[in-house]
Amino acid sequence: MLKNFWYAVEFADKVTRQPRKVTCLGQDFVLYRTESGGVTCLSDLCVHRGGALSMGKVTGDCIACPYHGWEYNAEGVCVKIPANAEERKIPRKARVDAYPTVERYGMVWAFLGDLPEQERPPIPHIPEHDDPTFKAVHVEMEINANYERTFENVVDASHTPFVHGTAFGNPKKPQIPDFRIRQTDWSAEADIELSPPPPGGLWGLLAKRKPQPEYVTVTNAWYLPNIVKLHVRLPIGDLLLYDFNIPLSQDRTLVKILGYRNFFTGSWADGNTRKRIEKILLQDQPVVESQRPELLPFDLSDELHVRSDGLQVAYRRRRLELIKQGWWVGGDDIITGDSPRRTATVIPSPVRRDNPELASAWVHKARTGGTAQ
Ligand code: FES
Ligand SMILES: [Fe+2]
Repeated sequence: MLKNFWYAVEFADKVTRQPRKVTCLGQDFVLYRTESGGVTCLSDLCVHRGGALSMGKVTGDCIACPYHGWEYNAEGVCVKIPANAEERKIPRKARVDAYPTVERYGMVWAFLGDLPEQERPPIPHIPEHDDPTFKAVHVEMEINANYERTFENVVDASHTPFVHGTAFGNPKKPQIPDFRIRQTDWSAEADIELSPPPPGGLWGLLAKRKPQPEYVTVTNAWYLPNIVKLHVRLPIGDLLLYDFNIPLSQDRTLVKILGYRNFFTGSWADGNTRKRIEKILLQDQPVVESQRPELLPFDLSDELHVRSDGLQVAYRRRRLELIKQGWWVGGDDIITGDSPRRTATVIPSPVRRDNPELASAWVHKARTGGTAQ
């Protein structure tokens, strides 16, 4: 799992004045809106005795821990310890990590890392979001597999005729012609020719009036750290899926999808679109859940790659560079699914860089094995 990226952690309409717990990189966070409507993202671990702030109450711009009522402001600074006499000073260490947030494309993005603003990798551009000819739906599903397995599954064109059969691929024509990869530091994209089956059901009705192409171009792309785009050109129009593979733990992934279409754009077709997207996910689910090893190997030579796996190989190479840069969050840093007595760490937020004297002050120090961070 990679830190130092913007992660889309929740659909924006789900974040209100009520605290909402979200999980990413094996860590829990609490989201809530301040009085002015901005989104706050704090580590969900109260620095006093590890209570979950998400079970607490929001008053004004502050959140109170449900256990002893310590109140933290939107920057994560503790501003009230109810058990203390008024004149007693609040320790400087009494704060939790606060993560920068932005709202974009109907999602709340949290920057999970400590890089200063100018060094942060970009949020990918989703042009369909502001294009009035497109209509969006939201879909989500939990998968019992590692997020890199579900991530690679979506850029993997050669599985479609086998896993999705006539719903999405054409089992009679499984060959993938060679494709060229356009790569940047943070993304890779390729136009891939696939032989499509004729669309059935509701979407087939309109398609019948148009001639069936022999190949359709599907654009597959990945954006670091965990987003995959799938652009399918159907005879009746364009369908684009942006697929966010959120690592809940090493072996559980919350897949959130923004699905855009420029046909049947009335709300009446939203349910049908969602069902089609869910059907694709349900076809992938048993396959990715059966993959072994559960975690994506670090070493390229640990699995066999062929020409059509180019996008995945590009991802694995880039990932290795970032691991060398120290951006990897490994098993020891993960606190969900705790074993008793295991102690917790949090992802360092930018504030720690701004206050070097506090750098390790409110870290939940020891991990399994007792190494301090
Ligand atoms: S555990 Fe949060 S106030 Fe004590
Ligand atoms: Fe698939």
